[in-house]
Amino acid sequence: MAIRNLIFEFRDVPGISNLDVWEKHGGYDGLKKAVAMERQTIVDEVKAAGLRGRGGAGFPTWIKWNGLPKNYDAPHYILCNADEGEPGTFKDRETLLKVPHALVEGMAIASLATYSRVGFIYIRGEYAEPAWQVRKAIDQAYAKGYLGKNILGSGHDFDLYIHMGAGSYECGEESALMSSLMGERGNPRLKFPHAPLPTVAGIWQAPTLINNVESYCAARWIIAHGSAEYAALGTERSKGTKIMSVSGHVAKPGNYEVEMGTPLMELLQAAGGVTNGRLKAVIPGGSSVQIMTAEQCEKINLDYESCSANGTLLGSGGMMAFNDLTDIVLLMRRTSEFYMHESCGKCTPCREGTRWLYKILDRICSGGGRQGDVELLLDVCSQIDGRSYCGLGDAACWPIAGAIKAFRHEFDYWIEHKRSPVGAQCVPPAFETINPALSLTAS
Ligand SMILES: Cc1cc2nc3c(=O)[nH]c(=O)nc-3n(C[C@H](O)[C@H](O)[C@H](O)COP(=O)(O)O)c2cc1C
Ligand code: SF4
Repeated sequence: MAIRNLIFEFRDVPGISNLDVWEKHGGYDGLKKAVAMERQTIVDEVKAAGLRGRGGAGFPTWIKWNGLPKNYDAPHYILCNADEGEPGTFKDRETLLKVPHALVEGMAIASLATYSRVGFIYIRGEYAEPAWQVRKAIDQAYAKGYLGKNILGSGHDFDLYIHMGAGSYECGEESALMSSLMGERGNPRLKFPHAPLPTVAGIWQAPTLINNVESYCAARWIIAHGSAEYAALGTERSKGTKIMSVSGHVAKPGNYEVEMGTPLMELLQAAGGVTNGRLKAVIPGGSSVQIMTAEQCEKINLDYESCSANGTLLGSGGMMAFNDLTDIVLLMRRTSEFYMHESCGKCTPCREGTRWLYKILDRICSGGGRQGDVELLLDVCSQIDGRSYCGLGDAACWPIAGAIKAFRHEFDYWIEHKRSPVGAQCVPPAFETINPALSLTAS
């Protein structure tokens, strides 16, 4: 298992972001195959490969592709989610920067499979440099007939546009992304079963497919190389590879494409191992998922089923490692600050609850923790979880509840001793009203 480069096979080849070099390495062979295939055969290949969406939820890609109208009668659209706002995740950034043609080709294939004539790539505002690379790749693809009118003589037209976001985490949520793309405020919409799926009514109420960057790139590889080769990799329910963004206290942070099912500890070793101490904890799938202790990490494989069996999620693959000098409560304070800041404010549990979580954690970490604060945190989490309008609310409370489950003693230590169990500094309270009588320099 361990490293297996499919999407990143040619990542380090000089000039690979240019069309001529990309073509020399098999670029657009997948599209050439796809134009000779029936629409349904393309979808069936993606199904046989067992590809699941790489944006976080792991939803089977073929079901979405299959859900779009199987004719050209009315306009429908395909979208690429390149918002990549999940803390700890930077895989799409490197993909767009280094192998932009993999995405362009993947979306052209998806357009054939769904009879869509227009596609949009929604790129987060901060990703100016990656967006320029994609711009260049799109222009080159048009010039060579891979995009535009009558692609490779197939009779199929496909235009591809870039839309820049403005750096909002919430705009990575698919319905908020669609609102933002249409020029509306980046708020989410009602979800199925209370509203139609995007494949029925997405942007401008037209059927819309939305997939992550990595999902399109993996689909390209599947069509180019065949579903059997892809499905031979991974585990029973998690096929192929996953790009993991490894960061934190490791010697060699970066993006690693691994075969699904690779032991977490093996990837940690590949990333040079833990620095400045022993392994204390890992967040495997981006900041929204539950933190795991070092002991739990020994049992986790990087696939959907192993992560969920161990009480966490593979998520977006943003794997953050922490050494034993890390203060977990401070880490959660910072995490909750992020979710409070990114809450769009549309629904009460998330708008109010994320602020409460941050306030309580801020109180604890400034030396003002009270008996009962841990129970209060858990109570607030339970009031947000499952009661929010979109997934951001859940994402805000899972890490806190998870950290309390795994590291309850650290929260209790902070509250009892008014200082960090690992010697970290107290933080000045962000909210002045919180226990001003207490010294900030408790030690
Ligand atoms: C708050 C929030 C933020 C999200 N951010 C992203 C993101 O940045 N990129 C992404 O691909 N999916 C993100 N998602 C998941 C998308 O809603 C959607 O499931 C995904 O784009 C579907 O693509 P896939 O099927 O290829 O995974 C987010 C979800 C939530 C709830
Ligand atoms: S859960 Fe948060 S981000 Fe989602 S709609 Fe409610 S307030 Fe907005």
